[in-house]
Amino acid sequence: MAESQLWHEVDDYLTGRLLSDVPDDSLAAALRDSDAAGLPPIAVSPLQGKLLQLLAQVQGARHILEIGTLGGYSTIWLGRALPADGRLISLEHDPGHAEVAVRNIARAGLDRQVEVRVGAALDSLPELADENPPPFDLVFIDADKANNPRYVEWALRLTSTGSLIVLDNVVRGGRVADPDNTDPDVLGTRAALDLIGSHPRLSGTALQTVGAKDYDGFALARVLA
Ligand code: SAH
Ligand code: DHB
Ligand code: MG
Repeated sequence: MAESQLWHEVDDYLTGRLLSDVPDDSLAAALRDSDAAGLPPIAVSPLQGKLLQLLAQVQGARHILEIGTLGGYSTIWLGRALPADGRLISLEHDPGHAEVAVRNIARAGLDRQVEVRVGAALDSLPELADENPPPFDLVFIDADKANNPRYVEWALRLTSTGSLIVLDNVVRGGRVADPDNTDPDVLGTRAALDLIGSHPRLSGTALQTVGAKDYDGFALARVLA
């Protein structure tokens, strides 16, 4: 059996054991409608979505920022962790993706708590900062990887002590550690990891992951005082 086939089978097994009681048709519907609308199948896996939800709950998150909405699948997992008066802002460049996401989020009953802002995140982030929002308890960075160091810097400005920053897709089949790979995406992720590793206000780590999303990983960073 190919290694990656095994990862997928084990992911199915774990999903069956651990997520079979998720009474949330809107998550499956979000994936179905994203697919029907031609969005790329690159949302976090169910087990990863649940990890994001648990992290938000451990944080006691009331304010969540997401960079990169796609069809709103990770958004719904994160949004479900919010208290009734909590709020999630998700930034998405592609108006078509945002439109699908807004429908998926509304069907999940999260439209009062979740706002999707359309535009390049590097335009939306300064606008958001100008509004002086309360510090975000969790920031999930999952957009164009070339801008990852900029997004980590913005996340630092928009958070406070104890906030958690999560960066998706930091391994990409091992490409991050291949010195011959100089793709802008890989360079952006390396620069973000260097920033996390060297910043006096960040305490970070990374996890390699296998499963339905093949071989990839997350970086996690806690904001210090
Ligand atoms: N978080 C989603 C997946 C996001 S995929 C999930 O797990 O369900 C990455 C998304 O980032 C895509 O929808 C893409 O359109 C968006 N994106 C790409 N460049 C962007 C930019 N500059 N600003 C905001 N969003 C961007
Ligand atoms: C890609 C982007 C993602 O955010 C992801 O989780 C997987 C793949 C991509 O651009 O290929
Ligand atoms: Mg991703």
